[in-house]
Amino acid sequence: MNQSMQGKIVVITGGTGGIGKQTAIGLARLGATVVITGRDRGRGEAAADEIRQASGQVQVDLRLADLEQQAEVRRLAAEIMTSYPRIDMLINNVGYLGAERRVTVDGIETTFAVNALTPLLLTELLREPLGASQGRVINVTGGMPRGPLDLGNLQSEQRFVGMESYSHAKLALMALSYEQAQRLNGTGITLNVAYPGGAATAMTAGISPAMVPGWMHPFWPLFGLIMSNASPERAARSSIYLASSPEVAGVTGTYFNTNSRRSAWPKPVLDRELRLKLWKRSWELLGGSAEIVDDRHRSLLADTV
Ligand SMILES: NC(=O)c1ccc[n+]([C@@H]2O[C@H](COP(=O)([O-])OP(=O)(O)OC[C@H]3O[C@@H](n4cnc5c(N)ncnc54)[C@H](OP(=O)(O)O)[C@@H]3O)[C@@H](O)[C@H]2O)c1
Repeated sequence: MNQSMQGKIVVITGGTGGIGKQTAIGLARLGATVVITGRDRGRGEAAADEIRQASGQVQVDLRLADLEQQAEVRRLAAEIMTSYPRIDMLINNVGYLGAERRVTVDGIETTFAVNALTPLLLTELLREPLGASQGRVINVTGGMPRGPLDLGNLQSEQRFVGMESYSHAKLALMALSYEQAQRLNGTGITLNVAYPGGAATAMTAGISPAMVPGWMHPFWPLFGLIMSNASPERAARSSIYLASSPEVAGVTGTYFNTNSRRSAWPKPVLDRELRLKLWKRSWELLGGSAEIVDDRHRSLLADTV
């Protein structure tokens, strides 16, 4: 059951298309003010209009930022905080699945940067407004995030296959989410992970056989057929549920599957030593451009192995 979201402020990264846009429509229909992000003004304004029309909610706020760049994540967070002293929900929805290994302006492999580091950083930067309203953070996972989690190939240094690297980065996101949820205990902020399930979106339209491991090639036509028919509205349900349902008030550090049911974490997520190594490495990679490399950043690195 979802409850009214009247008066709630929801930030959704990547709300201008795909699953994020459907999440925005669903939450706006419940009465929430939605802040969506994207990279392109034209596409973003068209999406904001569509969300207003589909939901009847006029409070749709578009913010532009390229979330593969750390400086842009920081600028977006600062901008949001100036406008909203409190945020009720942050849905880290933006993901990235590429055909080739590529590094960002920060020198970090893009799949790992966007899927794992960006949600970690944005959540940390928005702690104050989230804490002001006992906010909920929802991180969106995807792919086949089972394991192992290989710290030696975190940025696909050894091997890059689009779908494998994407699944690995989502597994890293899940381990970081688990750790971040523990560290947010006592702040009133909850953090959970949602698996949306397949949907026909710009991301899936861009997948080619070269981006999936060899064992998937025989199933490729079937995969394509299933994906092209899967609805983003359906895939948005898990994020909408976690953002709005009273059933999950106070629930944190939990993984929810595509049917919004509690699910077991992949094994590597529960390996504390591995998780802490990943946590430390991630904050080191986020440290290069950090204005939060101060006591707070040092404390994020503390208590790690
Ligand atoms: N689709 C699936 O089958 C599936 C399955 C499992 C999990 N997921 C996960 O669900 C989430 C949403 O996926 P989706 O398929 O809806 O993706 P999508 O169609 O590629 O999402 C597009 C949205 O993300 C934004 N975006 C993309 N890259 C960005 C960047 N670097 N900076 C800022 N915004 C960016 C786009 O904004 P612009 O307007 O700038 O393009 C747009 O709003 C992802 O985390 C994905 O991994 C998807």
